[in-house]
Amino acid sequence: MWRSHLARSLHQHRNQPESRFLQLATIDLDQRPRNRTLVFRGFLENSDRFKDCLKIVTDYRSQKVAQIANNPWAEVNWYFTKTRSQFRIFGKLILIDQECPDLELQSARKLAWQSLSEPARIQFAWAHPREPRVDFSEVTPPDPHEPISSFCLLLLEPIEVDRLELRGTPQNRWLYLQDRQGNWTEQEVNP
Ligand SMILES: Cc1cc2nc3c(=O)[nH]c(=O)nc-3n(C[C@H](O)[C@H](O)[C@H](O)COP(=O)(O)O)c2cc1C
Repeated sequence: MWRSHLARSLHQHRNQPESRFLQLATIDLDQRPRNRTLVFRGFLENSDRFKDCLKIVTDYRSQKVAQIANNPWAEVNWYFTKTRSQFRIFGKLILIDQECPDLELQSARKLAWQSLSEPARIQFAWAHPREPRVDFSEVTPPDPHEPISSFCLLLLEPIEVDRLELRGTPQNRWLYLQDRQGNWTEQEVNP
């Protein structure tokens, strides 16, 4: 399954923190594509309902949040240099903000907050993104135990994965599709 191949790529790049940077494309309120780099925070573990979900953290005030509320479909693109493999992971985004009533998801949000480094946490206390630059010298570090209101956990729930391996001529490509029961099928296709 695609997850074992992704795990292998992550393992081979374990000494390169930048291998956890992925690109996430969403659709904006005018139906135009938007894309940005984000940090992969691992898979949501111990969840039957949300298995295979990728974890990302983001600020409630960022533009992607309004885009996701309007259209949850998104695609991640992720390239690993050593394994020369590209993963295009397509699915729906689930936003877990302070108002999320689901206890399991809220506790995952809290855990994600507690797992952040202090420099990562303080960014959520910065002034509103995309507004004219202000002085940041007075920002107090937020409570490391309780997530600040702007902190969101974002889950990408994949339904389709396209894996391209550049090694070999011709290259190798597989499509993974999830059926309604949540089972994955794999098909080897032409590159
Ligand atoms: C290497 C790198 C890692 C980043 N990691 C994150 C992240 O984990 N979460 C996040 O919200 N933004 C992250 N950013 C910033 C985003 O790329 C983006 O600028 C920000 O989320 C605002 O995007 P939006 O206006 O489309 O919502 C990262 C940027 C870079 C260059």
